[in-house]
Amino acid sequence: MIESREDYNKHYKHSVDNPRKYWQEYSKNFMWKNSPEKILSWNFNDPDIKWFEDGTLNITENIFERNIKNKDDTAIIWEANNPSESNKEYTYSELFDEVCTFANVLKKNGVEKGDRVIIYLPMIPEAAISMLACARIGAVHSVVFAGFSANSLSDRINDCSAKVVITSDGNFRGSKVINVKGVVDEALKNSDCVKNVLTVMRTGSDIDMVKGRDLWYHEESKLVDNICTAEEMTSEDLLFILYTSGSTGKPKGVVHTCAGYMLYAQFTFENVFQYSRGDTYWCTADVGWITGHSYIVYGPLLTGAKTILFEGVPTYPDASRFWKVIDKYKVNQFYTAPTAIRALQSYGEKFIRDSDLSSLKVIGSVGEPINEEAWNWYNDNVGKNNCPIVDTWWQTETGGIMISPLPNIIDCKPTYATLPLPGIQPVLLDNQGNEILENNVEGNLCIKYPWPSILRTTYGDHNRCRETYFSTFKGYYFTGDGARRDENGYYRILGRVDDVINVSGHRIGTAEVEDAINLNKEVIESAVVGFPHEIKGQGIFGFIIIKESEKEIDYFSSIRETVNKYIGPIAKPDQILIVPGLPKTRSGKIMRRILRKIASNQFDNFGDISTLLNPDIVEKIISNYKKLSK
Ligand code: WTA
Repeated sequence: MIESREDYNKHYKHSVDNPRKYWQEYSKNFMWKNSPEKILSWNFNDPDIKWFEDGTLNITENIFERNIKNKDDTAIIWEANNPSESNKEYTYSELFDEVCTFANVLKKNGVEKGDRVIIYLPMIPEAAISMLACARIGAVHSVVFAGFSANSLSDRINDCSAKVVITSDGNFRGSKVINVKGVVDEALKNSDCVKNVLTVMRTGSDIDMVKGRDLWYHEESKLVDNICTAEEMTSEDLLFILYTSGSTGKPKGVVHTCAGYMLYAQFTFENVFQYSRGDTYWCTADVGWITGHSYIVYGPLLTGAKTILFEGVPTYPDASRFWKVIDKYKVNQFYTAPTAIRALQSYGEKFIRDSDLSSLKVIGSVGEPINEEAWNWYNDNVGKNNCPIVDTWWQTETGGIMISPLPNIIDCKPTYATLPLPGIQPVLLDNQGNEILENNVEGNLCIKYPWPSILRTTYGDHNRCRETYFSTFKGYYFTGDGARRDENGYYRILGRVDDVINVSGHRIGTAEVEDAINLNKEVIESAVVGFPHEIKGQGIFGFIIIKESEKEIDYFSSIRETVNKYIGPIAKPDQILIVPGLPKTRSGKIMRRILRKIASNQFDNFGDISTLLNPDIVEKIISNYKKLSK
């Protein structure tokens, strides 16, 4: 673990001067079936990246068998949605039993190494257990956030030809009960690859079970034992696929492989949170996102940490829930998203005033830029001016945290993710692809050398991986983010430079939302852009051309419902504006920067609009906007 600023400097220099040696040394902390000798081979043009290629291992052995001394330590504390329901705790050895049992149920139902398994579960212990069970037997898990619609779920099931779906009868979320299994049933009408649906009982809801296809987990688990030897995996075998939105087309399956991901998840967890044995750590993300993968499940469990898995929402039963949970378990490291901070701030201090929170040592932020006001509120009210805030920048594709302060080692600066972790070589490029060497500049954030958990491909479509990440700037991994570097070399992330909107820390591609909106039968064409939103960071603004109609139609509700159906509630537009046309170039491309300005209530400095086919449309859109905002 890095312990001081000098230590960081030493680590960083070593990791850049001799990356192979640096990661080879770190790899010795792990349990290999075959130790690797070939450390790294790579080219970013194909891309073709291999870490520890000739090594073999199983990540779950590195959680359970490697840390055998910790077997009676608590691994997971599960806190239920409803505070009056008792929690559950698992020691490492209890968790190990559960994982092996689950793995044996999968095996019994024909799941083999390399098969894809979709996990569509609420935040219950089985979410983590089933991920680890897949890893134990070498099956590839793909967790789908349980807020996605049937349509989004079936797209993902079909894209990876999943053999099994793991779900639950229902989901307690705040005061609601959500019929998760019903969504799976609906999704499977459009999928024929799935042989079985393994259903965990959670809510006791009345659900349909399809004979021959659907199985109750609690019944299956009685038929197997809890001994399961770990499958031997090569370093570059697939560990998981996680779907994420991009600027074009449908979500793509980001692929992570076994060894590199494992190393980097542990490395970043222990350094960024400065976790010591006995600490209690809590990340509020959902396992359906990369943050849940790397920093609820893999990073903490590889480190032997005590990690909290929280089923509920920040505002149930009221807006003091997070603070109560922190006090209840004396949480030492707390990791959440700016959108949650802003939402809780908006409820006022009375919900946090009576909380003690003195157990906290480090507080973290992830998923979107944290604005200065939210940063200060977090620092004053949660950290009590006494906890470093780790503003961690990273992505689904990077697998782990890339740029972040290290608590009490690298000084924090509000809104800055600060310095790269060892092994990470960020650069800023101008639009022509030249590296900008000075400080106090802005540019496209790229990374110029591979790190162990860089994505390897996009599932089933390697070309898309190359086009999206490795073609814009030849020889670099392009993040899609813009960044600023200050006089000390600190990075501040400015947000996406592509057509991706970051809504409450969730990535949503504009094309995806437009495709959904266009399925509404009243719609001819649409364009969506992000606009500043007080709580969500960015909201979704839709400019819509509709068919002529005699009827009175509530377009706002109708369009939101369509998006809800095809993607899920997170992608519902916050505002829509009916327009007579869209600003297009002669080649038919929508000039989104104009729409972005209008949606942000700015009506000048549109830049060069001489290539517009229909410049008059801009005035018409502005006039409709002004009518709407009146
Ligand atoms: C944004 C989440 C500013 C960024 C781990 C990135 C951030 C996208 C930060 C990835 C941060 C993430 N400051 N922006 N600390 N962290 N982002 O794949 O735009 O869900 O490209 O991964 O979130 O989102 P993803």
